[in-house]
Amino acid sequence: MKRLPLSYIFLFLFAGNMIGQTVPADKKWWKEAIIYQIYPRSFKDSDGDGIGDLKGIISKLDYIKKLGIDVVWLNPIYSSPNDDNGYDVSDYRNIMRDFGTMADFDSMITGMHKRGIKLVMDLVVNHSSDEHEWFKQSRSSRTNPYRDYYHWWDAERGNPSPRYSLFDINHDAWRYDSVTNAWYLHYFSRKQPDLNWENPKLRQEVYDIMKFWADKGIDGFRLDAFGFAAKDTSFPVFPAGYEKNFMLYYAMGPHLHEYLKEMNNQVFSKYDVMSVAEGAGNTFEDAHNLVDADRRELNMAYAFEGIDIAKPEGYSLLHFKEVFSRWDSAFERIGWLAIVLSNHDQARMVSRFGNDQPQFRALSSKMLSTFLMTMRGTPYYYNGDELGMTNSEFRNIHDFRDMPALNEFQHLIDIHGDTSAYLKKLRLQGRDNGRTPFQWDSSANAGFTTGIPWIAVNPNYKMINAEVEEKDPNSCLHYFRKLVNLRKNNPALVYGSYHLLDKNNPSVYAYTRENNGVKFLILLNFSPNKAQTNIGIPLTGAKLLLSNDHRAPDSPVMSLSPYEACIYQLQ
Ligand code: NOJ
Repeated sequence: MKRLPLSYIFLFLFAGNMIGQTVPADKKWWKEAIIYQIYPRSFKDSDGDGIGDLKGIISKLDYIKKLGIDVVWLNPIYSSPNDDNGYDVSDYRNIMRDFGTMADFDSMITGMHKRGIKLVMDLVVNHSSDEHEWFKQSRSSRTNPYRDYYHWWDAERGNPSPRYSLFDINHDAWRYDSVTNAWYLHYFSRKQPDLNWENPKLRQEVYDIMKFWADKGIDGFRLDAFGFAAKDTSFPVFPAGYEKNFMLYYAMGPHLHEYLKEMNNQVFSKYDVMSVAEGAGNTFEDAHNLVDADRRELNMAYAFEGIDIAKPEGYSLLHFKEVFSRWDSAFERIGWLAIVLSNHDQARMVSRFGNDQPQFRALSSKMLSTFLMTMRGTPYYYNGDELGMTNSEFRNIHDFRDMPALNEFQHLIDIHGDTSAYLKKLRLQGRDNGRTPFQWDSSANAGFTTGIPWIAVNPNYKMINAEVEEKDPNSCLHYFRKLVNLRKNNPALVYGSYHLLDKNNPSVYAYTRENNGVKFLILLNFSPNKAQTNIGIPLTGAKLLLSNDHRAPDSPVMSLSPYEACIYQLQ
């Protein structure tokens, strides 16, 4: 019998739904999961070399379990010369020496599974390291069997048409290599040559690598920069100024869907693993085409429009509400979203979206966590945010470690650009803000290492750390656990419909989540001032489930204190 397209089935279910309640979505563990992202380099060092490692993570598994989360996403831990902190892989089947051994990996995953925690690994296959054996072979001669694992442009053909590099010091994505008198392509740094996905042999290598890890028992893959993988290898000339909007040209290249379907067929469909790609194309249509279940490609869309709202000059809550509401409605019936406000490529959530001034830090951090845990979609929660960790203090460029930041700074020196404006931007938005060591306790180096940390610990660690917060029942940490517990015990917070209230309120984000007659009201004051809200629905009988500001249960909700967050259950 011909299979009915899934979209069709949904249409029927909706037509039969008289009371407008959300159709219970197809139940999946990865929809109900809360994903906790660990940046291994900065989480916990076990051997005093100043770099976080797998044994460090193992020593903190009980802490992770106690958070209540059920999936860990680990940034790359494969062998790497660390040009880009592991996003430059030199051996996909081995563990980075700084991080430990394969035996450590095996103990880590066993320890996670024993505690009911799943493991999602980063898969970095838009590019490899230039120190990967494939690239060493590829660059050695034009006739080497690995030549076509990468993109080469022979010099006799003249200059290749310009391609923008995100990380290169000159932003030139072509790097000339005299060994074979040809250029190779690198969208990221020159030590991260792009793999040639148009070559079926390369694709098969990647699927084999994925099977290697899936056979080891991992529970999912996060595909780094995968939208960039597919390319038109004739390298046509892009219109002048394309680099200002390079995503339009780089994301969703030709054959991307074919590659993903092939990957799904060969790997995802054979294991109980989840899949998410970094980015979700440029439009809702792109995102749906990547993740709608009947397409058999990926599981969920990790889009950037929301996380990108916060600019150095701030952002407007009206914009924030508009973006998150628009994405929710586009995925209301079909497809599934990641909900995210921070990761290892961003400054700290509380500093970007909240307020890291001492009087508001904890409040606004809890308020943002409330948002993440009460929206539809799978929350991706970045390590340290549960403590309300903030941006750090970077006095000068030498305090930064991030390769693209250092390259850009050098580039500005070379072109006599404005380095002080750039430094200011880095302090606010630089990726290193999210990469300072996890703050475990008040001892030296926040208990992260007994050695010299690879990047300085945030000086505020004596006030903000896991040990201090464990002892304080009002801490961000305790609040986060309560939120996790609430989400875990209420499918309406996972699957329920979302309805925005008081839409034009510039300070308050108010919405309901509802499923099978269970209804929650969420009120979030995004401002440092008291704010009024007019939600336009009766509150009789409403029960306060959680608040970040000692709100008395059942008090009328017309006025919210600065950064107040509360969750009510409605009758
Ligand atoms: C996206 C990753 O999240 C980022 O950290 C990395 O630098 C680039 N991809 C290149 O792999």
